[in-house]
Amino acid sequence: MAKHKILIIGFGTVGQGFYELFHEKQVSIGLEDTVVSEVIDAKFGFIKNFGPDIITQLKGGKTFEKADVFKTIRNSEADIVCEFTWVNIKDGEPAFSHIEEALSAGKHVITTNKGPIALRYERLHELAAESKLKLRFKGTVMSGTPSFNILELLPGIHVQKVRGIFNGTSNFILTEMAHGKSFDEVLRLAQSMGYAEADPTLDVDGFDAALKAVIFSKVIGWTKHDLNSMDIKGIRDISSSDASAGVKLLASMDSESASVKPVHLSPDDLFSNINGVMNAAEITTDTLGKIFVAGPGAGRKETAQAVLSDLVEVINN
Ligand SMILES: NC(=O)c1ccc[n+]([C@@H]2O[C@H](COP(=O)([O-])OP(=O)(O)OC[C@H]3O[C@@H](n4cnc5c(N)ncnc54)[C@H](OP(=O)(O)O)[C@@H]3O)[C@@H](O)[C@H]2O)c1
Repeated sequence: MAKHKILIIGFGTVGQGFYELFHEKQVSIGLEDTVVSEVIDAKFGFIKNFGPDIITQLKGGKTFEKADVFKTIRNSEADIVCEFTWVNIKDGEPAFSHIEEALSAGKHVITTNKGPIALRYERLHELAAESKLKLRFKGTVMSGTPSFNILELLPGIHVQKVRGIFNGTSNFILTEMAHGKSFDEVLRLAQSMGYAEADPTLDVDGFDAALKAVIFSKVIGWTKHDLNSMDIKGIRDISSSDASAGVKLLASMDSESASVKPVHLSPDDLFSNINGVMNAAEITTDTLGKIFVAGPGAGRKETAQAVLSDLVEVINN
């Protein structure tokens, strides 16, 4: 009998990436008695009692009967729900309701979905706390690269300020523009390489980075920041000469204010060396001064690592 069971909602890049990484690492992280017992996905349907070759079967075109997601959550034997559906920056739905339903049904939740965490964190945090359940969302900021979660290693530390390059697509565009290419040319390149969506608004207009800045702030306790109150500006007006002069799209937050905007950096600023799709965060603290972390901010395996980190925390702590 498995000790822990996982229900995955949304079986795309992150869901499948997590499924694969979990099985690759399960023994080395001591989770032999944990299983992914159910999967529900808009495209593939509801999948239960499946074998390790499920992803190969789905790639081969196999689909399963559709089911209602909310009923599935309520009836599930799983004690952990992983929410990996699409991001909605207007109201966080349907992910918010999926997470609310899971917590109300007594299940821990792990999500990589920025919408519900950035927009409705307080309600979800309160619901989890009331029910003594865990709500983890490491993958929402810098994928598996440590970001706000390193604060868990630093008891008592006081964070004074955070700066970050939180959007790999816009950083990639600025890096390429610094070599003389135009915004439109590099955007097409980013789309052809799969870094940018057909509708690049979230990335290039600063909203994706802003959602991450809000989430980072909420973890620290700077609860007043949200998309409406933040100063948000993207990179559409940046020229290649601005980019080659060291302009980066930077998030900046402290207890009073938060912004995402293009900033001209001096060459000795560590962020000026963060190129391509890399992400980075600088956390200014009372005891350690500045802590700087850099690494991938998206990707199948990279985001799966974030979910694995959250899973170990949910199960072991
Ligand atoms: N990919 C990354 O590198 C990355 C990194 C960090 C965070 N994230 C976040 O993680 C989440 C998942 O990303 P992803 O890249 O895995 O997206 P994805 O490849 O598009 O996968 C999402 C899956 O969820 C399904 N889905 C959509 N609405 C659903 C619903 N109501 N009920 C059940 N299934 C539903 C989709 O089916 P259809 O295709 O039929 O809609 C799709 O199979 C997003 O919120 C994303 O922002 C992604």
